Amino acid sequence: MKKLLLLGDVHGNFPALNAIGKYIRPERFDRIINTGDFTVYSTFPNETIQWFRQKKNTVCILGNTDRRVLRILKGKKLKRPKKEEKRVMYYWTSENMHPENISYLKSLPQKTDFTLGHIRIGIFHGTLGDPDEELYPSAPENRFRKLAKHSRYQIHIMGHSHVPYYKIVDGVHFINPGSVGRMFDGDPRASFAILKISSGNIAVEHFRIAYPVEKVVAGLKDQRLPDIYAEMFRIGKKLN
Ligand SMILES: [Fe+2]
Repeated sequence: MKKLLLLGDVHGNFPALNAIGKYIRPERFDRIINTGDFTVYSTFPNETIQWFRQKKNTVCILGNTDRRVLRILKGKKLKRPKKEEKRVMYYWTSENMHPENISYLKSLPQKTDFTLGHIRIGIFHGTLGDPDEELYPSAPENRFRKLAKHSRYQIHIMGHSHVPYYKIVDGVHFINPGSVGRMFDGDPRASFAILKISSGNIAVEHFRIAYPVEKVVAGLKDQRLPDIYAEMFRIGKKLN
């Protein structure tokens, strides 16, 4: 049996990532997947990236926040987000990233795939065709059908919506592990999933675990970053 740890949308929240690591012991997994958005909205982008860099068997891709940070580092103008309090989080991240972690991000693709046993697995931040598509479980069945029809993969592992779910449509398994570091459903606990594959059988289990949110709040306060994010982490809701 192969076991995969599914992570994504950490958003620099190392206390949440570390709590998951302590809870599940990542060395037990055949692959550790990260669906992107390593960075932005909390003050531990380096610790977050290093956690993945130090592990074997990781399969990681970039998310939209990571791509935006890399654009700032190239000296390009930031058109979006428009809100000043959001922009400051992007600029803070780009100014505080260690060079080796910037190089690591630059080395990552926007999507990737691999085969395990005979099962082809695709990793996407948004969806197969669009890294910025937020695919919610409530999306029309037709949207999933279309993605399944154009897919070479039996399993799609996706992030970006921050909503944990598992759906099988026309034989294709769509999995979102939810967000490790920035859930929006009013439950501030970290979200992740475990995928087990054995002789063609596919099983998915989602988890929510508590982590020391106050460490994230202290990091934001220490750097005098907008209070709205401290509140966002405390209550587990999107506030802007
Ligand atoms: Fe995200």
